[in-house]
Amino acid sequence: MDRRAFVASVGGAGALAAMTMMERADALEHAMSEELDRAIVKSGICTTYGREEGLTHAVESGGQKKPYMMGHDPRLPRMSDKPTLMEFFEKRFGSVNHMLQSAALAQKNGLPDKVVLACLLHDIGVGGLLRSDHGYWGAQLLEPYVDEEISWSIRYHQALRFFPDEAMGYTYPEAYVRFFGADYEPDEYIKQAHDYARNHKWYETARHITINDVYSFDPNARVELGQFADIIGRHFRQPKEGLGFDNSPSAHMWRTMIFPNNFL
Ligand SMILES: [Fe+2]
Ligand SMILES: [Fe+2]
Repeated sequence: MDRRAFVASVGGAGALAAMTMMERADALEHAMSEELDRAIVKSGICTTYGREEGLTHAVESGGQKKPYMMGHDPRLPRMSDKPTLMEFFEKRFGSVNHMLQSAALAQKNGLPDKVVLACLLHDIGVGGLLRSDHGYWGAQLLEPYVDEEISWSIRYHQALRFFPDEAMGYTYPEAYVRFFGADYEPDEYIKQAHDYARNHKWYETARHITINDVYSFDPNARVELGQFADIIGRHFRQPKEGLGFDNSPSAHMWRTMIFPNNFL
């Protein structure tokens, strides 16, 4: 973007000089997104990078002390030693309201608990770790702790979102036309994933995730996580050591959300 316009947007050269590098980067990002009317959204795990106040450790490098992070990051809500799924909802996940709304709608539609839980957890990849291929990341996080049908369905909802199924009442999302254009073609791997899922015994469960995938079904509804505590208790195998510390195949992924900025 034009440098003069940017300098003016932050209140002039004096104001710019008084900013830290991080503030300048934020201001530039903000100005660019305003100018281009686009949303380049950082992944949940990435929003914790870059701010350096409060770091106590430092390494010598080229005659300079460079701060680094190990252990609990003082800039983030502190996780307990035995974190539960509920705690991740409270302290780490984004997109929480969207997932709560989706689960509440699934419940209102009379769907079984397993589907409600799948809806409640369907975007934890986006909300906690990485936006890109979020269905796959979410499924992997959950595999050790839920019925395979739930994690399978979360993996495939990502691809199914791109393909209508009028018979089940799912039309192509309006929002995708706005985001990607009317003649958008999904990548080949997404098409393959859809074709595979379409003929699978759990297809309907994954499809229900896409049908109940709403940003708000009722703008006045306040959905609380607590209303799903029973379903979580019955269908999510919370490890007694805490998520991240139970040596499961995805424990490292949960630990990464607890300590997203560890140096090594
Ligand atoms: Fe999703
Ligand atoms: Fe979603």
